[in-house]
Amino acid sequence: MTGPTLQGFKDLVRGRCGLMLEGNGEETLKAAIAARMQATGVLGEQAYLARLTTNEAEFQELVTLLTINETYFFREPEQLALLTEKMVPRLLALRGPGRPIRILSAGCSTGEEPYSIAMALLDQYGEAMGSLVRLYAGDIDHLALAKARAGHYSAFSFRALSPERQQRYFAPIGRHGFALAETVRTRVEFHHLNLLSAEPPASLHDFDIVLFRNVSIYFDADTRRAIQHNLARMMTLDGVLLVGTAETLANDLGVLRLVEEDGHFYFAKGAAAPPPPRPSRSPPPAPPAPPPKPNRPVPAPVVATVVATAAPAPDLDTARRLIRDKRHDEAGALLRGILAQSPDHLSALVLLAHVQVLRRDHPAAQTLAQRALELDSWSVEAMVVQGFAAKWQGDHDAAIRWFKQAVYTRHHCWVAQYYLAESYRAAGQPDLARRTYRVALQHLTQHPDGDGGLSLPLGLPVAEVRFLCERHAGGRG
Ligand SMILES: C[S@@+](CC[C@H](N)C(=O)[O-])C[C@H]1O[C@@H](n2cnc3c(N)ncnc32)[C@H](O)[C@@H]1O
Repeated sequence: MTGPTLQGFKDLVRGRCGLMLEGNGEETLKAAIAARMQATGVLGEQAYLARLTTNEAEFQELVTLLTINETYFFREPEQLALLTEKMVPRLLALRGPGRPIRILSAGCSTGEEPYSIAMALLDQYGEAMGSLVRLYAGDIDHLALAKARAGHYSAFSFRALSPERQQRYFAPIGRHGFALAETVRTRVEFHHLNLLSAEPPASLHDFDIVLFRNVSIYFDADTRRAIQHNLARMMTLDGVLLVGTAETLANDLGVLRLVEEDGHFYFAKGAAAPPPPRPSRSPPPAPPAPPPKPNRPVPAPVVATVVATAAPAPDLDTARRLIRDKRHDEAGALLRGILAQSPDHLSALVLLAHVQVLRRDHPAAQTLAQRALELDSWSVEAMVVQGFAAKWQGDHDAAIRWFKQAVYTRHHCWVAQYYLAESYRAAGQPDLARRTYRVALQHLTQHPDGDGGLSLPLGLPVAEVRFLCERHAGGRG
């Protein structure tokens, strides 16, 4: 093949789908052209080049021979954990139930990436996952997509998959294959997608999270920039983009903002997030305080601040014991002592807020819990205390909002589920109440601990709560 003809193929492929075919890629291209010319019976490279420019289906056939589809389940697992354990719960807490979180795996190859997310979310939320999150995936390679949709894999895809998940979600098929369980397979919607096309399929829009991992390595900077603009258009205003760890710098192109969270980098579309609140040195606000707004401020989308806590753990254990023994004044004094030393001590703030609820000083409880939430937007304990304070003041709508945020953040917390159900019932929403009692019962059966996994010393009577859940879930109450 002459140099100019080969260049013609290279330019066409690069212009249409971004792939750069230099070095070894050139050999791959030549072999692919030869294979397709033989398959189509077209004589002469110029004639085949002409055919490619006008025949989209043939162009796609050639592309399947040029793409590199290397992928496997739970590739870069820490990044996937950040997505499933932090980003999704955070978005659920922000958005509420009406709007499932939308995630796109862009350049999904044979599907291992989006299915890994589906498995992790199923483990996290059970069947409720379906109403909480929608998973989409796209790739330019239609053969890879066909494999993804079929959900049949070889052991090669399992190098980073835990044996437990393999056992749970795959069944042997044929001599060496494994079929993905339908519960996972049906969670992902696959689409043919050319990332360089400014017009993606109609259903690929408004994504909260986009994964674009191990795809950009095949593109030059101009192509990466063009693709980022396309992806940005497919994202919500506060959407985020995850690239492979090694691709971070190459994708920092000024289109999206680089963000760091827990040692991981990703890109965000929105304007710069407000800086995390600076730990203040002032003492905790004294009661009585103005009633806080039931809708807490939207947490910074970027970093959940983890507050360094310096107080010795034995003091906290003592405070918890005092609370269990109903010695609330002594517990309060001890916790105030800790806070005098370390005003931003998260656990002490939350425990003192709880003491104030028990003492029926709800405004003080709310102020302390609000301070705790400013320090750590994802403190389920602080959300639950807010819920209690609202509930005991008869503000059922606010209680529902707080307990909902708690269950979105920690779905399996039966205490939050139970009190959410109670609040629904009190607010005259029997259907939602019944459903939520059932969820509470399910989690209570799995984790029958009187504190519901919270670090608050609640000591709830599990048998009694179970009885109430059964009664109300059955619709008799
Ligand atoms: C190495 S795989 C990455 C798979 C997965 N994201 C991962 O990290 O394991 C790269 C995928 O990008 C796809 N791809 C390449 N160019 C594309 C384009 N222009 N539009 C959509 N997908 C593309 C390829 O077909 C291939 O399946």
